[in-house]
Amino acid sequence: MKATAVAHPNIALAKYWGKLPEGHNLPAVPSLSVTLAGMTTRTEVHFDGGAEDRLTLDGEVATGRPVARVTQLLDLVWNEGGRDGERPRATVVSANDFPTAAGLASSASAFAALAAAANGALETDLTAAQLSCIARRVSASAGRSLFGGFVELPAGVGAQAHLPAVPLAGPDHWDLRLVVAVTTEEKKEVGSTEGMKHTAATSPLYDAWVSSAPAIYERVKTAVVARDLAALGPALEQSALAMHATAMAADPGLLYWNDVTLRTMHAVRQLRRGGPPAFFTIDAGPHVKVFCRADDVAAISAGVEAIEGVKRVIVAAPGEGARVVE
Ligand code: PMV
Repeated sequence: MKATAVAHPNIALAKYWGKLPEGHNLPAVPSLSVTLAGMTTRTEVHFDGGAEDRLTLDGEVATGRPVARVTQLLDLVWNEGGRDGERPRATVVSANDFPTAAGLASSASAFAALAAAANGALETDLTAAQLSCIARRVSASAGRSLFGGFVELPAGVGAQAHLPAVPLAGPDHWDLRLVVAVTTEEKKEVGSTEGMKHTAATSPLYDAWVSSAPAIYERVKTAVVARDLAALGPALEQSALAMHATAMAADPGLLYWNDVTLRTMHAVRQLRRGGPPAFFTIDAGPHVKVFCRADDVAAISAGVEAIEGVKRVIVAAPGEGARVVE
């Protein structure tokens, strides 16, 4: 009744922003991500039968919403795994070896690791696709971290709750590098769930985003399959900028960027003028994530590190999906 699993965060090349109104945490648009190596969430689940589920996150006892989400995920594994009766309560101990303020969606790796560990501890034998669907219901991007390499998450259809992510190509498919420009050490952005809800409810651009995102996603997918960075770059920048434009047009507007975010976008475009190809994406926070070829990573990370206001850079490569280690 005890197991430990590891998982890695992922970064979307084609962004997901917005959920279907039908429930089940179904994304309104398709997304495509790359799972990262190097940064790891390690989660131990022990169904030790206390009075309630308990969660320790990076050495601190958690309460409230994070614990409720853990309970939701454990209940799903128990039920989808065909277990009857009352689920024994669990002690969950989870730690990230990367700073959460770096904007590398720690909820994605957290819920992917938790799903894998719970499946191991309960011996429920759920497949990676079933675990992906379960993790996706708690945090949509977590569904993608069950798999390594390049991963797709289709848009939901109606109220159909079954929607796992789908692996597109393994981590060895393409030797890309991600250079994260950390633009602040502070963590005070509006969370993605809240931000999406607000955008869907108030942004006049939301319908246009939902109808245009699938074509951008198709361009991203075609470029990833062909390992064509010159084609991927403009599509991935458009995906991120369209997502942010939609959120900025909400009422009141969501502004995830700071001055360094904006400066870094311009600097990346300047760096690739005559230099090696490098393209940016931005999630629901102020950090800028720059994709480049492995051969160019020294030049690009030095260039990004030199941008005024960038605190530090983190370099990552494509990595493996979630797995039980103990
Ligand atoms: O699944 P969530 O709630 O972590 O939302 C992810 C939203 C973005 O990171 C901005 C985009 C994405 O597709 O990962």
